[in-house]
Amino acid sequence: MNRLLLPKRRLSTTNRRRLVILGTGWGGYSLLKNVDRKKYDVTVVSPRNHFLFTPLLASTTVGTLEFRSIIEPIRTNAPFRDERDFHLSEAIRLEPKARTVWCRSVIEPSNLYPIAYDNLVIAVGAVPNSFGVPGVEENAFFLKELADARAIRNQIIVNFELAVQPGRTKEQVRQLLHFVIVGGGPTGVEFGAELHDFIKQDIAKLFATEMDDVKVSLVEASQILPSFDKRLQRFAEKRIQQREKMELLRAAVTDVRPKEIVLSDGSVVPCGLTVWAAGISARPFTLSLDLPKTKQSQILVDNCLHVKGDSSGSIFALGDCASVEGDVMPPTAQVAERQGRYLAKALSSYADNKESHVVPFKFRNSGMLAYVGGWEAVTDVPHIKFGGFHSWLLWRSAYLTRLGSWRLRLQVPVDWFKSFFYGRDISRF
Ligand code: FAD
Ligand code: NAI
Repeated sequence: MNRLLLPKRRLSTTNRRRLVILGTGWGGYSLLKNVDRKKYDVTVVSPRNHFLFTPLLASTTVGTLEFRSIIEPIRTNAPFRDERDFHLSEAIRLEPKARTVWCRSVIEPSNLYPIAYDNLVIAVGAVPNSFGVPGVEENAFFLKELADARAIRNQIIVNFELAVQPGRTKEQVRQLLHFVIVGGGPTGVEFGAELHDFIKQDIAKLFATEMDDVKVSLVEASQILPSFDKRLQRFAEKRIQQREKMELLRAAVTDVRPKEIVLSDGSVVPCGLTVWAAGISARPFTLSLDLPKTKQSQILVDNCLHVKGDSSGSIFALGDCASVEGDVMPPTAQVAERQGRYLAKALSSYADNKESHVVPFKFRNSGMLAYVGGWEAVTDVPHIKFGGFHSWLLWRSAYLTRLGSWRLRLQVPVDWFKSFFYGRDISRF
């Protein structure tokens, strides 16, 4: 390992503590925006130099929204004291005794280097869970990052272009235009909703002759929208089943091959695209950490987000990669964002040696929304459950107001307007 000496500037201390944040997702970005920079010298390490507004990610897979409309560049929106305080790198190893985290540049992977910290916050999120099903990693698309959405969008366009090229048999066209979504959680349902809208509003005009051969299958092993109220599950289920060109299959997918999937009853289903949205699991970096974990391999933290088993008390973890002992919370943006804000405040008290001012983190769920297609959504907030057009209005306005900057709050409605009046852009590039 190339043990580069840290630049002197990094080791020489100001009165401020050195805080290193791993990750620029919901948890890390929220902490970064709220932490008191007068008390901390903040360094951020992340393989992503932007924040991604995941609730609208599915909309970019078909062009309802454009990719850059749902991201915020970290350097622009959370300016650093020194431009070298952001590292486009990934953390690969932690040395708690030396208070050092080792990083690898994602641009130049041979460049490995240490960063020293006084406090470390692990907010590295999670990865899609393949559950060890054969062929998933090789043949399925995930929907977690912007690059995933872009790959899906290109593949959908390619399949339609291939379907109209000379020499295709009817069977080949059907296979190309059969889109399979594995997992009926909110990710799978919202992607299915966007795909349904795209087919109905744009494909029906642009590929009218092929419409008979287009099909979308949502394959769910148990219950769709597992984290939503039962009535809303039934509402969404009914809507999906009523939809032309869409079916809901109750089965587990046991194999994903290049042009087909295999279901638990042994049936083989030909398809041209498989999107795997079957849940999440721990990242390799999280797995590599020698720290107490849950059964799902999340880092165990106490109710003030201190990592259990870290005697120095200098390491915190939050968001999808962590779990509060005795208080299980859903792996959502809502939780990660609030934990980030909470920790910013707590760190301020720690810097002032006012530990007694820090109260435990408590999550109060303000509810969930999910788009189900055809200008309908489901709203599941405490004591209020409803689905339909009004829910869709709430869904759009809630996410519009939650977008973190005015640039995005302007950009997103412009995209909605453009795709509604002029159709979605189906250029391949
Ligand atoms: P993330 O937001 O995933 O961020 C992790 C960060 O860590 C990233 O910047 C990543 O690049 C970085 N990283 C990864 N590895 C390393 C490493 N080794 N070193 C340093 N940095 C690293 N939740 C809701 O509440 N509402 C919704 O509507 C909603 N919609 C969603 C839609 C989709 C399509 C998806 C996929 C998820 C959705 N979620 C939603 C869930 C929500 O996005 C996650 O719960 C949330 O992103 C978790 O935040 P996090 O900060 O823990 O992780
Ligand atoms: P999830 O865990 O919520 O759902 C995954 C689904 O896949 C489950 O219903 C499971 O039964 C099914 N499944 C697993 N293996 C399967 C197989 N082999 N074959 C068929 N089905 C299979 O995962 P999701 O949707 O990725 O969500 C992850 C987290 O992000 C959740 O906490 C969710 O609440 C949150 N999220 C919230 C959104 C919202 O509030 N609108 C949108 C997207 C995600």
